[in-house]
Amino acid sequence: MTERTALPLFPHRHLLGIKGLSPLDIEMLLDRADADVSISRQSEKKTSTLRGRTQINLFFEASTRTQSSFELAGKRLGADVMNMSVASSSVKKGETLIDTAMTLNAMRPDILIIRHASAGAAALLAQKVDCSVVNAGDGAHEHPTQALLDALTIRRAKGRIGGLTVAICGDISHSRVARSNIILLNALGARVRVVAPSTLLPSGISQMSVEVFNTMKEGLAGADVVMMLRLQRERMEGAMVPSVREYFRYWGLDAEKLKVAKEDALVMHPGPMNRGVEIASEIADGPQSVIQEQVEMGVAVRMAVMEALLDPRRNPDGAAI
Ligand code: NCD
Repeated sequence: MTERTALPLFPHRHLLGIKGLSPLDIEMLLDRADADVSISRQSEKKTSTLRGRTQINLFFEASTRTQSSFELAGKRLGADVMNMSVASSSVKKGETLIDTAMTLNAMRPDILIIRHASAGAAALLAQKVDCSVVNAGDGAHEHPTQALLDALTIRRAKGRIGGLTVAICGDISHSRVARSNIILLNALGARVRVVAPSTLLPSGISQMSVEVFNTMKEGLAGADVVMMLRLQRERMEGAMVPSVREYFRYWGLDAEKLKVAKEDALVMHPGPMNRGVEIASEIADGPQSVIQEQVEMGVAVRMAVMEALLDPRRNPDGAAI
């Protein structure tokens, strides 16, 4: 634990997005997460960094990996973790997000992890409660811990992020993963490309410091990292893609399309995957895939984020001492 207390104090009380973090803040979290990876690889996985602290996971949207990852991260740090099951809560009886949050706040948690279908939900919550808030995905806005775990996976595989060419492919317009990754990768000096049909590009994409490509062949040429995104059919209004088969033919990652990227290019996907839609099974399970590493890094990154936000050197009201 001695090396942990020597780490610089993270200058934020909440993690609401990658936007607003400096490159130094990001590197600090990645360094901390790098050290946390070894905890999960030991047979004794429980530490006492957050002993006595209460973590509440408040997930208003379905989630398997993100919720379980936050739960394990909290438990490995020794915190008491409660999962608020929204399906069986008063939310179903019409309670608003703020009322739910205020009720939970009165139980004096130290950290609230929130996932919600509306952009801005985490920021709203952070204004109302007394504890730290982590955004685990708010609508199509941000998903900061996903971008951090992606960065950690890339940094561990390639040794750096600056100077790499990263192609983010597929449903950019509905993706908080794409948004957070674009901001983070740019902050750390990567060259970011987005590769998508024009119907799946957000209107403000030209202001996001990315190069836009309309074919996989051009977009993947010479890439160091190929990041595939799930086709988010639940967020689409109307048919934005003609058919799943046609989507796979033009935009799905298969061996043929991957050939134009660098030979040692990493293949990533945040999950859940639609096999045969945005990615072929043989690629998802193939030698270039780091999809399982991403899941492993997810636990470490979430441990690092919670440790950084709940640093004991900070006052309970959040001010640094
Ligand atoms: C992503 C999400 O929920 O934004 N999944 C995740 O957190 N692992 C991506 C997605 O749903 O496609």
